[in-house]
Amino acid sequence: MSRCSIFAALILVAGVLHQGRASRILCIFPMPSLSHQVVFRGLTMALRERGHELVVITTDPINDPTLKNYTEIDINFLYADFTKDVDWIATRHKVTWNELFQSVAPRFIPMSERVLKHPDVKKLYSPNSGEKFDLLIIEMLYWPSFLSFAKYFDVPVIGMTSFGLPLQMHYGIGNPIMPSDPAHWDTEIKALGKLSLWQRLQNFVYAWRFLYYYRTVYLRGHQEISRKYFGTELPDIADIERNVSLIFINQQAAISFVRPNIPKIIDIGGFHISKKIEPLSKNLQKTLDAATQGFVYMSLGTNVKSVMLSNETREEFLAAFSKLPYIVIWKFENEVLPGRPDNVIIMKWAPQQSILAHPNIKAFIYQGGLQSTEEAISHVVPVIGLPVFADQDTQVNKMVSLGVGKKLEILTLNRMDLVDAINTIVLDGSYKQRMLKLRDLMRDKPYDSLENAVWWTEHVIRHKGAPHLHSTTANDPWYQRQDMDLIFLISAAILTTLTISLIVLYKLLLYSIHVLKYKLLVSKKEKVC
Ligand SMILES: *[C@@H]1O[C@H](CO)[C@@H](O)[C@H](O)[C@H]1NC(C)=O
Ligand SMILES: *[C@@H]1O[C@H](CO)[C@@H](O)[C@H](O)[C@H]1NC(C)=O
Ligand SMILES: *[C@@H]1O[C@H](CO)[C@@H](O)[C@H](O)[C@H]1NC(C)=O
Repeated sequence: MSRCSIFAALILVAGVLHQGRASRILCIFPMPSLSHQVVFRGLTMALRERGHELVVITTDPINDPTLKNYTEIDINFLYADFTKDVDWIATRHKVTWNELFQSVAPRFIPMSERVLKHPDVKKLYSPNSGEKFDLLIIEMLYWPSFLSFAKYFDVPVIGMTSFGLPLQMHYGIGNPIMPSDPAHWDTEIKALGKLSLWQRLQNFVYAWRFLYYYRTVYLRGHQEISRKYFGTELPDIADIERNVSLIFINQQAAISFVRPNIPKIIDIGGFHISKKIEPLSKNLQKTLDAATQGFVYMSLGTNVKSVMLSNETREEFLAAFSKLPYIVIWKFENEVLPGRPDNVIIMKWAPQQSILAHPNIKAFIYQGGLQSTEEAISHVVPVIGLPVFADQDTQVNKMVSLGVGKKLEILTLNRMDLVDAINTIVLDGSYKQRMLKLRDLMRDKPYDSLENAVWWTEHVIRHKGAPHLHSTTANDPWYQRQDMDLIFLISAAILTTLTISLIVLYKLLLYSIHVLKYKLLVSKKEKVC
C-alpha cells in the first residue's frame, strides 16, 4: 500500500470515528481564477471526506451530484465582471501591483453585491432560513464584506489564501510590515538581493500609502455594503478581520522568502498536486514518447492568455523555438499560430501535470504561478520564468535564487536570450540536480500539509475560535506597531538636544571671540601707553 492510500484510509477511518462531531462549514471563495480555486478545493474536499458538511460559494464548482454533504453555489459570473478588458501583459511595468489593484478596486463592490444578491446566497442569510454553521472559511484577499457572515452566524473565521498573504492582511492581523523584505510580493520594487536606501524609501512610502488607502477607502466601501445587507448593528469589519482565528497561507518555506509570522498563520501548500497522474491522450503520449531528444513545455497559465503577447514577442518565441533540437508543446489559446515551426505543437488546453511527469521533458517555460512552480518541483523540471503580474516576480526570483531556474523579461524578450536560457538549463545538469534536492527537501517534513490543515480547522471548530493565537499587536495603532512613535520621539529628542547644544556652542564661541578681541585690544592699548 502506498503512502497516499494509507493516508486516504486514515482519513476515512478518522472520518467515520468523527461522524458524531460532524460540523457544517460555510466557505466563500470569490476570486475568479482557477489557480486560486484548486487550492481551496483541496481543503474543502478533505473536510468533506472527514464527514463534515460543506456549503461552498465558488466561481469554479465541481458540479458532481454524487458528492454528498457538499453543496456548491456557482458564482462563475464573476469571471466576466473581473477579467474583462484586463490585459495583464500590457499593464506590466506601466503600473505597480497596488496601482493596478486600485484601478480595478471599484469592481469589487458590485462583484461582492452580485454574490450577496444571488438567490441561493440570499437564502442563507434570509431571516427564516434556519441555517446554522460552525465555521466560516473565507478567501483572505480583497473580500472583507463577506466577513459579515461570521457575525451573522456567530461563528469563528478561518482565512485562506492561495499564495502569499497581501500587505493589508499582514497589517490587519498584526504581522510586522517590512516593505523591502522579499516576502512581500506586493511592494513596488522586488529585485533579488539587497535594495538601496532610495529603493527602500520608495517601498516604505508605497506600502504605507497602500495601507492607508485600504484602511480608509477600501474597507469603508465594503463596510457600507455589509451594513446594507446585514443591518446597521454589524460591527466594524476591520475588527472581524483582525479577529480571524487562523489563516492558511500557501507558502512553503523551502520555496518562498521566509518572514516572521504570528502563530495564527499556518503554512499550507501542494494540496492540488495530483497523487495519481492522469494518463495522456494517445496522440500526445505518442508524440512525447517519440521526442527522444527531449521536449520543452510552455504555458503562461490561466490568467495570462497567449493572445496578450504582442506580435513581436510571439515572433521571438517562434524564432527561438525553431532553433531548438527539441519538440515544444505550447499551451496557446488560438486555433492557429502564424509562422509555427514544425517542432512546435500548440494546444488550447494542456494536461499540465501529466506533461510535466513525462520523462522526456527538459524544461518548463512559464509565468511564475505558484501552483505551476509546485508542480514543476514535484516533477523535477527546471523552469524559465517570464513573470507577468502579482506574486509571479517574487516566485521566479526565488527559483532563480535556488538555482533551479532562469528569469527573462516578457516585455523585452529576444530570441538569443531565450535560446541561451533553454540551452543552459537543459545542458547544464546542475539545474536538474538542484531541483531534485529541492524536491527531496520539500518532501521531508513531519506531517502532510493537508492533514495538518484539516487538524487546525477542527481545532478551531472544537474551541469555537482561537483567541489564544491572537497577537495584541493587531490591536495597536499603526504608529505603535514597530515603535514608530518612540523612534520619532527619540529622534526628535536627539535632534532638539543637538540643535540646542550647537546654538549654545555657537554663542559660547562668539562670546569667547568677543572676550579675546577685547583682551587683545586692552593689551595693545597697554603697550601703546
Ligand atoms: C452528512 O453530514 C451529516 C451531518 O451534517 C452527517 O450526519 C452525515 O453522515 C453526512 N453524510 C455523509 C454521506 O457523509
Ligand atoms: C474581537 O475579539 C475581541 C477579544 O476577544 C472581542 O472583545 C471583540 O468583540 C471581537 N470583535 C469582533 C468584531 O468580533
Ligand atoms: C499581428 O499579426 C496579425 C497577423 O498575424 C495581424 O492581423 C495584426 O494586425 C498584427 N498586429 C499588430 C499590432 O501588428
